[in-house]
Amino acid sequence: MQTVLLLTCATWYALSVHAQSSLYGQCGGIGWAGATTCVSGSVCTVLNDYYYQCLPGAASASNPITTSAPTTTPAGGSPVSSSTASAPSSAPSASCSDLPTNPGPLRLVGVNIAGFDFGCSTDGTCTASGAWPPLLQYYGADGAGQMQHFVEDDGYNVFRLPVGWQFLTNNVLGGDLNETNVAEYDALVQACLATGASCIIDLHNYARWDGEIIGQGGPTNEQFAAIWTSIATKYASEDKIIFGVMNEPHDIPDIDTWGQSVQAAVTAIRQAGATTQLILLPGNDYTSAEEFISNGSADALNVVTNPDGSITNLVFDVHKYLDSDNSGTNAECVTNNIDDAWEPLTQWLRCNGRQAFNTETGGGNTASCETYMCQQVTYQQQNSDVLLGYVGWAAGNFMNTYVLSETPTESGSTWTDAALVSACMAPK
Ligand SMILES: *[C@@H]1O[C@H](CO)[C@@H](O)[C@H](O)[C@H]1NC(C)=O
Ligand SMILES: *[C@@H]1O[C@H](CO)[C@@H](O)[C@H](O)[C@H]1NC(C)=O
Repeated sequence: MQTVLLLTCATWYALSVHAQSSLYGQCGGIGWAGATTCVSGSVCTVLNDYYYQCLPGAASASNPITTSAPTTTPAGGSPVSSSTASAPSSAPSASCSDLPTNPGPLRLVGVNIAGFDFGCSTDGTCTASGAWPPLLQYYGADGAGQMQHFVEDDGYNVFRLPVGWQFLTNNVLGGDLNETNVAEYDALVQACLATGASCIIDLHNYARWDGEIIGQGGPTNEQFAAIWTSIATKYASEDKIIFGVMNEPHDIPDIDTWGQSVQAAVTAIRQAGATTQLILLPGNDYTSAEEFISNGSADALNVVTNPDGSITNLVFDVHKYLDSDNSGTNAECVTNNIDDAWEPLTQWLRCNGRQAFNTETGGGNTASCETYMCQQVTYQQQNSDVLLGYVGWAAGNFMNTYVLSETPTESGSTWTDAALVSACMAPK
């Protein structure tokens, strides 16, 4: 492994162009085609095969420094150092890329309770009339019963409750909530809170309103902030509410400008009095865990802060499916995502003192998905210092025939889980 790494580095340097990566920017790794040298005061450091990063320190060698080999280092053991260069004393300790020695259980594990997002498309067109409450009193599935079952029988402790922006305002752009519609959504929120679980309010609009991108030609940051002011004012005193700023932004022209839109939402939520709850910060590419670093989301969102300048309870929102095109539409799974997504992400998070939450993942109820999902779950558990947990997609109003159904079947007073949930997604 080390030999391969060094040869690969030499090749990069022979071909290297002379642009330099910024502090904490990527400077190499399999598939990386960008700059391979770092700005003055930082040094290119091999975190793993897929991700080299510019970390603070004086460059004393022209080759990247290998701080450790996470896949071959036993937890708690000494990192294996390469002989190409020694880490300068001012560089962060190699431990930021080690596996944690005592990872605890994942903090939050659960499932999406879909329905209020029905009618939403990836262009941010959410037809208010398309929303279908997953509650018996509104002729939907028994979302309240499902959540109770998931908590009692499976040990789940978080539910994500997707909803379209247009539904909350009854198609009026801005921040004024439609009381009739919000009363229906709040019934689901209250059913969630009644189970004792945490409840994610997920604005399911793909960074858009009717095809136009927030802060980049579509709704203004003020309009985006206004909807969050209204929602956060309503739930300011509920500790177990988690604010999911936006579902799956994609094809965002300017990621730093998007970071400013996310900042506007965070500021609005905190100033509305929701000062302590978790807020989830979403990046580009459908919040892909795999593209989070390489496509600039990590850098753009790493500068988002609370009004007091802190980053307390600001957590990155990432999604990842296990099928061949990461779309979450295929019954068969082909990857556990560890090498391509979770390992580079966890190293970056650890080295930057940040955390992420995987709020959508899932697969078919098939043998291939059981295998890969269980590997992914195990990896996330081993890295619970930087990964808060996962939320499966999806239950609620999805039928059991839906390809990614995690909807349990009720028979009398007994609930039976989907195969993938039973296999290893349920902690109990
Ligand atoms: C709220 O939405 C309902 C549709 O659910 C609509 O009939 C009603 O007119 C709206 N209320 C206001 C004040 O716009
Ligand atoms: C990165 O984001 C840009 C702009 O949204 C997009 O065009 C590009 O496809 C993304 N790259 C990857 C690898 O997803």
